Amino acid sequence: MSKIAVVYWSGTGNTEQMANCIAEGAKGAGADVDIFNVTDAGDFTADQMGGYDVVAFGCSSQGSEQLEEAAFEPMFAALEDALSGKKVALFGSYGWGDGQWMRDWNDRCKAAKAVLFDDGLTVNEAPNDEAQENCRDMGKELAKW
Ligand SMILES: Cc1cc2nc3c(=O)[nH]c(=O)nc-3n(C[C@H](O)[C@H](O)[C@H](O)COP(=O)(O)O)c2cc1C
Repeated sequence: MSKIAVVYWSGTGNTEQMANCIAEGAKGAGADVDIFNVTDAGDFTADQMGGYDVVAFGCSSQGSEQLEEAAFEPMFAALEDALSGKKVALFGSYGWGDGQWMRDWNDRCKAAKAVLFDDGLTVNEAPNDEAQENCRDMGKELAKW
């Protein structure tokens, strides 16, 4: 059974909804899923990451096309060196931008030699029914990956 971590930060619950749908899809497809709501930089570590086959990281676009700076960014930076060869999926919600934060985040993961699932799943503001279904589908795919 595939072991998946869904590790996310969400300010108003939009990315959280995505995280829950991804987890639901993955569980429905038979994966063993743990969800980590990152509110502190120490909430998910490289050591913990080692225990999972796949890690889905989620964070909304914050700052100016950036990851959330107080908890998620330092958490992610601390495990970036351990991403080499790791199966990683990215997701998150955005507002008025064009998804630049996700492109930058993808580039970061590629530079760290992570094995990336697609280019990241993005949703504008709160996920509607279709977007929620897309998140569940992504979870299913991650369970089979
Ligand atoms: C402080 C702050 C900065 C933001 N910066 C951006 C941005 O640079 N680009 C963008 O597209 N949306 C930006 N947004 C909008 C959020 O990404 C958007 O509302 C998203 O749905 C929030 O998801 P969450 O509830 O998971 O945090 C920003 C929102 C806040 C509160």
